[in-house]
Amino acid sequence: MHHASKLPHVGTTIFTVMSKLAQECGAINLSQGFPDFPIDEALTDLVEKAMRAGHNQYAPMPGVPALREAIVAKVQRSYGFAYDAEAEVTVTAGGTQAIFTALAAVVHPGDEVIIVDPAYDCYAPTVELFGGRPVHVRLGADMRFDAEAVKAAITPRTRMLMINTPHNPAGTILRDADMRRIAEMLRGTDILLLSDEVYEHLVFDGEPHASAIRYPDLRERAFVIFSFGKVFHATGWKMGYALAPRELMAGFRRVHQFNVFSANTPVQHALAEYLKEPANYASVPGFYEEKRDRFLVGLRASRFEPLACEGSYFQLADYSRISDEPDVEFARRLAREHGVAAIPISVFYKEPPPGQRILRFCFAKREETLDNAIEQLCAI
Ligand SMILES: Cc1ncc(COP(=O)(O)O)c(C=O)c1O
Repeated sequence: MHHASKLPHVGTTIFTVMSKLAQECGAINLSQGFPDFPIDEALTDLVEKAMRAGHNQYAPMPGVPALREAIVAKVQRSYGFAYDAEAEVTVTAGGTQAIFTALAAVVHPGDEVIIVDPAYDCYAPTVELFGGRPVHVRLGADMRFDAEAVKAAITPRTRMLMINTPHNPAGTILRDADMRRIAEMLRGTDILLLSDEVYEHLVFDGEPHASAIRYPDLRERAFVIFSFGKVFHATGWKMGYALAPRELMAGFRRVHQFNVFSANTPVQHALAEYLKEPANYASVPGFYEEKRDRFLVGLRASRFEPLACEGSYFQLADYSRISDEPDVEFARRLAREHGVAAIPISVFYKEPPPGQRILRFCFAKREETLDNAIEQLCAI
């Protein structure tokens, strides 16, 4: 039987490839973005409590009300705006499902969606799945947002701009001035915004997180996407949420109800309790800043050249002083011969800049893992 794939160019992702390679050759795995340390025991206890209390059946489609209310209160505390828990908040099976559902809800065949490369790998294929055309622009110098390049990519067919702060894989953040520029370029258009903020709270050096929620002009046209997995070190839970104004959220939910219908019930009850304590997320920036600093100091003693890491749990490093191999080959050799698995960042581009020699390292790891990786990297 012959059938035509809707995504003929998509193969196994580099994350699967590198994690498998790391396992095969016993390399320290700094490739895929997940912590190797346990979650807060209090959170485990809350899930157990919720299960024992019998919260084991389908949750309401948009999410458990107590969690939606806790999200609204938390977002108001963090970003100064209160969404309507009833109509503007939907709990999802992770950030990826929220992105998929938002794109499914609004992208029509022929619509253009502006994606800023290097970009998280689900963006472009999901746009294509719904008949949209990804329009790729690149981050500018030092992996910073290039407002002029984005503005130049806008056409009458532009349906949406996708932004991501803190940025995976770049590790840079959008600042107030960037958000104002984005608001300015979208003003007077019907262009929607998808603001991927799954690494909120992983922002360092005392900088604020410039959430789209803080900007009324952006908020009114935005799906803002979050992930509990990233913030609470539980990526395997696949638990997140989307926020959007009432009308956009109504469209989102029309898709959501036939996609997953609802997300994991006991985990929602647990998170509703856990979110009530601001210290549970207020401690995240310092926690990860320490890890960044530990890894960065170590890396500076090697022949890798670290790029600025302002947020996320990824550190980019230029290896041109070590090798002029293309990044995919160098990453494979690094895992096989030097025992550290990393991600070559060319995979995040439609067309990688020629001659770019940069790898991404995930520092969401125990001190011991980071120290062992640094020892290997310094030996090259
Ligand atoms: C930029 C970005 N957006 C979204 C996601 C997806 O988050 P989740 O694991 O909650 O689906 C990730 C995960 O790596 C990410 O890096």
